[in-house]
Amino acid sequence: MCGIVGYIGEKDAYPILIKGLHRLEYRGYDSAGVALLTDHQLNVYKCKGKVSKLEEHVVGKDISGTVGIAHTRWATHGEPNDVNAHPHFSQSEHIAIIHNGIIENYLSIKKELLNRNYKFKSDTDTEVLAFLIEDIKNSEGVSLAEAVRIALNQVIGAYGLVVISKDDPTEIIAARKGSPLVIGIGEKEFFVASDATPIVGYTKNVVYLADEEFAVLRKDGTFTIKTIKDQATTPYIEQLEMNLEALEKGGFPHFMLKEIYEQPRSIRDSLRGRLNVNKALVRLGGIADYEKKIMNAPRIIIVACGTSWHAGLVGEYLFEDLARIPVEVEYASEFRYRNPVINENDVVIAISQSGETADTLAAIELAKSKGATIIGICNVVGSSIARATQAGTYTHAGPEIGVASTKAFTAQITILTLMALQVAMAKGTLTKSKFHELLQELDAIPDKVQRVLERNKEIEALAAKFKDARNFLYLGRGYTFPVALEGALKLKEISYIHAEGYPAAEMKHGPIALIDENMPVVVIATQGPSYEKVVSNIQEVKARKGNIIAVVTEGDTQVKDLAKYVIEVPETDEHLAPLLSVIPLQLLSYHIAVMRGCNVDQPRNLAKSVTVE
Ligand code: G6P
Repeated sequence: MCGIVGYIGEKDAYPILIKGLHRLEYRGYDSAGVALLTDHQLNVYKCKGKVSKLEEHVVGKDISGTVGIAHTRWATHGEPNDVNAHPHFSQSEHIAIIHNGIIENYLSIKKELLNRNYKFKSDTDTEVLAFLIEDIKNSEGVSLAEAVRIALNQVIGAYGLVVISKDDPTEIIAARKGSPLVIGIGEKEFFVASDATPIVGYTKNVVYLADEEFAVLRKDGTFTIKTIKDQATTPYIEQLEMNLEALEKGGFPHFMLKEIYEQPRSIRDSLRGRLNVNKALVRLGGIADYEKKIMNAPRIIIVACGTSWHAGLVGEYLFEDLARIPVEVEYASEFRYRNPVINENDVVIAISQSGETADTLAAIELAKSKGATIIGICNVVGSSIARATQAGTYTHAGPEIGVASTKAFTAQITILTLMALQVAMAKGTLTKSKFHELLQELDAIPDKVQRVLERNKEIEALAAKFKDARNFLYLGRGYTFPVALEGALKLKEISYIHAEGYPAAEMKHGPIALIDENMPVVVIATQGPSYEKVVSNIQEVKARKGNIIAVVTEGDTQVKDLAKYVIEVPETDEHLAPLLSVIPLQLLSYHIAVMRGCNVDQPRNLAKSVTVE
């Protein structure tokens, strides 16, 4: 969703800001803009469309200035157009602001300002905030920073924002509540961004603003951070672990393909230091203090959205099966509003790649208020969810840039497997031999994923046959049912083909009515306890002339005789089947989307990090 970049220092701001916006493109957006400040002038340029469009738009215009802010907007209030794009000017055009989040009481503030003859240009909540800041600054005769602080005490809602003014050309103000902001500290220069990706090329020293904090960053290299209640805070400077290479495509045509191919490495990174096969040990340091709590929990509630929710479903099977703990998997957006029964002994596991998903964050706060223990599984280090949870484990998949989640999904499942195994062993619900066998299998997964990737050409050829299909059905059973959901989600997200995932046996209660020779049906039919049952489901599809693409275990003969197309994956234990069977589905979606000319990394209307509910 919306992206923020800001710069103050001695260099030209424009190239830094534009490069930063390009780095943030992965978040998903529909318009872009930039404000540049010289000693006496504040220029704003903005337009609907991509950052490249903004670059064309500024050709021939004055882009000088060593202070500036820039934004990519994902529309919430008001359609995506030039006027609603950020930055927004204040009435006098002395102040410019960029903002992520939503000001919930903007209409009442706007009404009051309208009564005093203020004239608004856009439909946004952000412009109201710019006007309010100016109104306070003028009426109370205070500094820009103080005006921002007072204004923020009047607004209800969420914000990550940056403000500059031509009356104060030597400082920029950044503030946060519910929408992340990172400050990069360089040599007599500062960077501000909604995540660390625009900053990493310049400095490793960063400060993550906490909720209700605001920072004043000055051109002379000094800065202060206070709360909006005017209390000084001591900034905690952290070192970024991210490297630039991880943010580039590294020779791949798209981030998504690069990230699919990274999975042998990213799964290995998720396991690193946590799995020791020789010593038959699993140890997730982040939850060590909570092991007993989880072990004795009467119930685990998993909250997540999107792909992370699918990983949560796999987690349900793992925890129930291995550790014998009842699990409920909840869409965070539903959970937060339906007055759920949460008890003090419940353990809530929140899963999120970005660590910023608004609904998941709200679900955590709700569960926390009821006294439950909250464990996080996040990919982005230092993210809001990672900080809101009592304990947790990072997935260590590395930055995921493609909007469609791939390596984060397999990393989340890897962590859930480790967690379930650790708890199962502590609880004694698993025999030593089964535990050891699973550890060995888990250790072998990265190499097996590599073997699936080697079938890329085969899968690409298959994609060519199905690229014009209008609908797809995905079927799985047991551990591979969530994989069917994930396969369908991948396809619709990036190729815009309608696709549904279903439990294979449930098909006969509805979707079977859709099956004819035009309906491709992807069935995950790998070896496992439900194999024979899935074969029967394949028979049912075949009897109705469905076009079957089956994912099978290497050496399979039975399904090969029935299905028109098969993709083989190496044999593994059924508990780990999702880690292998999802790979061909990711590749299939990828190739179909490319062949249909879709923007794979930035699919229409989607955002990487959904910071509004
Ligand atoms: C968005 C992304 C999905 C992601 C979901 C949850 O919809 O496009 O890829 O699965 O949000 O995000 P999270 O960061 O919480 O895993």
